[in-house]
Amino acid sequence: MTITPVRITETPEWKALAEHQRSLAGRHLRELFDADPARGETMTVDAADLHLDYSKNRLTPETVQFLVAVAERAGLRERIDAMFAGEHINVTEDRAVLHVALRAPEGTRITVDGHDVVPDVHGILAKMRDFSRRVRSGDWLGHTGRRIRAVVNIGIGGSDLGPKMAYEALKDRTDRSIVFRFVSNVDGSDIWEATCDLDPAETLFVVSSKTFTTSETIANATTAREWLLAGLGDPAAVARHFVAVSTNAEKVQEFGIDLGSMFGFWDWVGGRYSYDSAIGLSLMIAIGPEAFGEMLGGFRAIDEHFRDTPFERNLPALMGLIGVWYYDLWGAETQAVLPYDHYLSWFPDYLQQLEMESNGKSVTLSGEPVELPTGPVVWGTPGTNGQHAYYQLLHQGTRLVPADFIGFLRPHHRVGAHHDMLMANFLAQTEALAFGKTAEEVEAEGVPPAQVPHRTFSGNHPTNTLLAPALTPRVLGELVAAYEHRVLTQGVIWGIDSFDQWGVELGKALAQRIVPELTAEAAPELHHDSSTNALIRRYRAARVG
Ligand code: F6P
Repeated sequence: MTITPVRITETPEWKALAEHQRSLAGRHLRELFDADPARGETMTVDAADLHLDYSKNRLTPETVQFLVAVAERAGLRERIDAMFAGEHINVTEDRAVLHVALRAPEGTRITVDGHDVVPDVHGILAKMRDFSRRVRSGDWLGHTGRRIRAVVNIGIGGSDLGPKMAYEALKDRTDRSIVFRFVSNVDGSDIWEATCDLDPAETLFVVSSKTFTTSETIANATTAREWLLAGLGDPAAVARHFVAVSTNAEKVQEFGIDLGSMFGFWDWVGGRYSYDSAIGLSLMIAIGPEAFGEMLGGFRAIDEHFRDTPFERNLPALMGLIGVWYYDLWGAETQAVLPYDHYLSWFPDYLQQLEMESNGKSVTLSGEPVELPTGPVVWGTPGTNGQHAYYQLLHQGTRLVPADFIGFLRPHHRVGAHHDMLMANFLAQTEALAFGKTAEEVEAEGVPPAQVPHRTFSGNHPTNTLLAPALTPRVLGELVAAYEHRVLTQGVIWGIDSFDQWGVELGKALAQRIVPELTAEAAPELHHDSSTNALIRRYRAARVG
């Protein structure tokens, strides 16, 4: 498929948006709220269980019209339709992009090159459900006849961050009689820590890798197999203690895992869009097939909303467009994501891959340099920890940092008054960021004049507030789908391929070249730059062989 991206900055729609931005540049959020006291109610949008309040942003209803015009001009509607139709919108890899098919209900028809993929999706889901139930009920036994008490997911990138983030997010729904661990780093400390207190006779490894060639994952899986065999002493044990999740049956077999224990998926699922595929197997074992199904329902609700709702009221599209507004017209370089739910502690890390691997691109679909700054640096930690660490910079620093605040009406646990305190902080922070505290207000408190500048808060710091009833499996699915579609929205405006990741290749290739240079008996001839050569020699001199 050839997609010729629109040179968006040359369009009248972009020029009108830029002109409009200049007219708003001097206006403070205080003024915007004074001019339109209802904006806290009107500048909101609901999608399934998600409520987005975008009123505390440097924009007016007119801004939304300008942004929507840009989205239409960039071809967002056509690209959404092409994605849902299974067209090869991942142009550089010539692949369809169909994570939406992973949550399509049975009976829907979504074709990739003429083949309906929905029955395949449901076939694998059925196999996952059956296996998860067997492990959870104790029907699937280890080689020596013992129950599985530990599940270790081995994967990296999307094959790790998704299931790990979702496992942590839904921890209160997990089976506490089984320990779950996630190993990703090739640093041996990771697999060591994950296995050092486990019993091989009760441990199941889920080796998750789309390609089954990722060196970190294969190294960890190989070490895990050695650990298992050292404990159980019989190569036949692998069959009861290893399953694989992959698109690459040949490599799975080569590793020694039976195809009956392989859970497949497809090249049209990107790694960072994959945890609702079989990559979520360890998650399904943890939360059970019913909760996994509820989560898929949440994804689906937002997919349908994104596909069918006009952009003015389309939650993921608006989030995407508001991001473009700040990164490209106000010079913001980062995006903070601040969940006020401890269980979402891995959500910012998960979004880092989703957003930065997708939209960290500098050429367009047709290979031209991009016209605008693309994906921001995404970062964050759960509130209220961040408040006592880096919020100082958000309130009084010199940088513009748009922030998404994510909160929930109901807590997981009734632990004293904690939830009221948490949510009071959640609400206070966006209020303080938006409205600040003027020098006059500070003076009126009797603060000594010399201290007034230090204790003044300029305000005017933009935030989105995302509120949902509770962090249930369904709501998690909704949240993730919203961010997935935010990524597509922005990628279309920038005219880039949000679904490839060529930028990870160079480092991988160089590492493969360097491994033998570190391990060779005789000092190798080195042909790197002088810095890399010297560092290799220093490592070799101290290497523990
Ligand atoms: O190197 C980046 C990447 O390809 C990610 O896109 C992917 O999620 C990760 O590596 C893991 O890949 P795999 O699932 O094939 O092991």
